[in-house]
Amino acid sequence: MTDPESYFDNLYSDDPDPWAYRRRWYEKRKRDLTLACLPRQRYSRGFEPGCSNGELSVELAKRCDQLLCTDLNAQAVDLARKRVAGLPGVEVLQRTLPEGWPPGEFDLIVLSELGYYLSPQAWQDVAQRAGKNLTAGGSLLACHWLHPIEGCQMDGPGVHRLLAQALELEPLIHHQEKDFILELWGRPPVGFDLSEVVE
Ligand SMILES: C[S@@+](CC[C@H](N)C(=O)[O-])C[C@H]1O[C@@H](n2cnc3c(N)ncnc32)[C@H](O)[C@@H]1O
Repeated sequence: MTDPESYFDNLYSDDPDPWAYRRRWYEKRKRDLTLACLPRQRYSRGFEPGCSNGELSVELAKRCDQLLCTDLNAQAVDLARKRVAGLPGVEVLQRTLPEGWPPGEFDLIVLSELGYYLSPQAWQDVAQRAGKNLTAGGSLLACHWLHPIEGCQMDGPGVHRLLAQALELEPLIHHQEKDFILELWGRPPVGFDLSEVVE
């Protein structure tokens, strides 16, 4: 994508919900699946870059003590801040990946519908930072549309291939259907805790 700033500026100026996250059943179902795939009930510190208008952020916030959401687009940041207003422990910042990767470690990183907007080199950089900054026992979830997106150098399968090569983590979930791929990796010790009780 040659000029992501203007591309996303135009999208958000036309519609505050450009991918119809609030209206479309497809998106609600994908979001529910994303949340159901997270192995743990609670996370200490989550990171969702490319948070858009905060529709997934609201749900992630319910599972995280602290959640950092970022987006390169000022309008998206403003919309996400409004969406998560009043929820404890959530911060939304305007940052561009890969250089805007935040300091510190996370036990949850969610890379959802983001990778194809970056160049392969920049995405590789993101993957390396994500792998390095995931705590022991932490989960990294990625979910992407499988079909080509105009103006983007990579498609969803390419985005996930690159992640699988760059992440030195254990693959835990691979879910693919007609339109999207969802994968989850963990840093050992990983797995589902069968003794955990519902909060
Ligand atoms: C399709 S939305 C994804 C929303 C959310 N993660 C979800 O899946 O529900 C992609 C968002 O990524 C943001 N974005 C694209 N490239 C980015 C980059 N290099 N750094 C940060 N945000 C970026 C866009 O502004 C847009 O809001």
